[in-house]
Amino acid sequence: MKDKKIIIAIDGYSSTGKSSFARQIAQKLSYIYVDTGAMYRAVTLYCIESNFINNCELNVDKIIENLSKINIKFIFNNKIQKSETFLNEENVEKKIRKVEISNHVSEISAIPEVRTQMVELQQKMGENKGIVMDGRDIGTVVFPNAEIKIFMTAKPEIRAMRRYTELLQNGDNVTFEEVEKNIRERDYIDTHRDTSPLKKADDAIILDNSYISIDEQMQWFEKIFNLATDKQ
Ligand code: DC
Repeated sequence: MKDKKIIIAIDGYSSTGKSSFARQIAQKLSYIYVDTGAMYRAVTLYCIESNFINNCELNVDKIIENLSKINIKFIFNNKIQKSETFLNEENVEKKIRKVEISNHVSEISAIPEVRTQMVELQQKMGENKGIVMDGRDIGTVVFPNAEIKIFMTAKPEIRAMRRYTELLQNGDNVTFEEVEKNIRERDYIDTHRDTSPLKKADDAIILDNSYISIDEQMQWFEKIFNLATDKQ
């Protein structure tokens, strides 16, 4: 029953192309796409704008006290054919991609109370299935019963080269060595934090896209999807 909607959980290392892949799958299946990294980024933006982060010091008590005032949702923008992140009714899609947010998001996403609230919201978004969600803990914590779990990886030097090329195209002045160092550091932080560290769920399928194209990756997914939905 291919029309029965399922949950697709995509986790993996940074710069493996999780978001692009998840968005592509959602478009193909007419599923909802949820970028959970954007949710942690929106919480980080709220904390910065509320002055709960000063000179790199976090006021964790204030953050926890104000969590109920943070309302995050995604609204699909027909013009650009992409969903955008809204924080308390404001479109913050551009603001949350800034370097200042990237610099603080790991600390904010390590606060257990923040994670509990985001996970609850993510689980609500998936209540009716028909969803593709990408992040670090989707197959392990958010949807441990997801019908398809994919764990994305690629050689660090290949991820670094893709990211380096992207940054150069955006006019950023960086060296390949800097980018590769940052990728390796982020891998370490993601896999070693106390709360919900990045790890492959036992039943997740590994997708190593070091040497495959985006088209080959999609063909690979179609096989996985057909197998999973034939079982339904
Ligand atoms: O995917 P991203 O780089 O936009 O994610 C931003 C940060 O949020 C990153 O530091 C990891 C964290 N994150 C997380 O802890 N759990 C998730 N489910 C998604 C992202």
